[in-house]
Amino acid sequence: MDRGNLWEMTQGDPSSPNLDEASSEDGRDDIEEMKSYVGLTAEDEAELAALQSAAHADMETLLDRFYGVIDAHAGARAVFRDPKRQRASLRRSLAAWILTMLEGPYDQAYAEHRKAIGRAHVENKMPQRYMLTSMNVVRSWFVGICAAQYPGDPERMVRAITAVDRILDIELAMMLATYRDDLLSRMQRQERLATLGELAAGIHHELKNPLAAVRTAAFALRERRAVRADARSRALLDRVDSNVDRATEIISDLLSFARLRNPEKSEIAVDRLVRGAAARITIPADCRLTLDLDPDLPPAMVDAPQVEQVLVNLMSNAFDACSGGGEVRISSRLQAGKLAIAVTDDGMGIDPADLQRIFEPLYSTKPEGVGLGLSLSQHLARANGARLLVKSTPNQGTSVTLLLDR
Ligand code: HEM
Repeated sequence: MDRGNLWEMTQGDPSSPNLDEASSEDGRDDIEEMKSYVGLTAEDEAELAALQSAAHADMETLLDRFYGVIDAHAGARAVFRDPKRQRASLRRSLAAWILTMLEGPYDQAYAEHRKAIGRAHVENKMPQRYMLTSMNVVRSWFVGICAAQYPGDPERMVRAITAVDRILDIELAMMLATYRDDLLSRMQRQERLATLGELAAGIHHELKNPLAAVRTAAFALRERRAVRADARSRALLDRVDSNVDRATEIISDLLSFARLRNPEKSEIAVDRLVRGAAARITIPADCRLTLDLDPDLPPAMVDAPQVEQVLVNLMSNAFDACSGGGEVRISSRLQAGKLAIAVTDDGMGIDPADLQRIFEPLYSTKPEGVGLGLSLSQHLARANGARLLVKSTPNQGTSVTLLLDR
């Protein structure tokens, strides 16, 4: 997967300040700071490397114990929404995690990889308390490995166990930090939305009368005989009307933020969601809409009007991107146990520098854009337990995938 061009809505808000007192502003010193705090030395690193082949040989024992703990608890079992695939994949990932942990090097790339693992758990809504118990399973398995490795050398055994404890402390701290980052960015987003909501209500209040007055005046002018007879005047009035419509639309988008209600979920066919949204879109004369929908998908469990709104926003962006000719394609399929609806255009694509910011409220790359559509879509998608993935290649197009729970 090309991470450079992919931005996932569930990722931390890139504009969030890092509130961790112990880390540098961009988090680059996190790993060094943690190594120095837990006291991980070069000798520890050598001890860890020396455990590699024993750990490799006994890996199945660890994996069985690890799953034993998860299987014994209904809440932990429920984290796996696609158990067959996810359990097999976690077995492989865990084995790789152990081996890379013993191998190092414990640098920034290591820390980034560990943060990505932490995010996989946040995204899978794994309660962080489960992490503590499973980390203890790993610790006690390592104690057994160290005891078997150095049976006649208690000092060396203690050195090896100490090294394992230190690296596992770092691992645990990094895993838990992703939960904290996620919470912070959600709190910040809530704050920004609350501010935006107040602002929206104010703007709506202040602008509704002036806009109504412009609309009425334009209507009155249109009725004048001289205007009716003059094509240029009529064209100018058309522009007044369409711009008043646009201003009204912007205010209504802003109000959507202010009035976001809790979703009322019920089962609905993906086909109906897509077709309902497509029916609300005006397709530019020189663009085409192609539907490639899997009719056998199970229903989605969502608030239909909210998710339809997300699809309308995505489709409308896609048609904006391919104005001047092109195709927008909407496909639906089952992807990793989720219902995936992809809206793909063959337009100009999004500059990688913009990609990370496109979901921020009031950020727009369009000359006339206000920057609310995607941000609102993100909010609605999250409220419905869904995720949005964006993939874009400059000069080739953009694909936004909505991943819904079944
Ligand atoms: C010591 C504790 C744990 C470690 C080291 C660990 C490690 C990992 C790793 C390396 C991945 C792959 C991440 C990626 O693909 O980027 C992963 C994914 C995952 N883990 Fe864990 N994990 C731990 C505990 C748990 C527990 C207790 C659960 C469930 C109760 C869990 C559920 C999952 C799930 C659902 C995924 C996503 C699998 C997928 O969709 O492919 N993990 N974990």
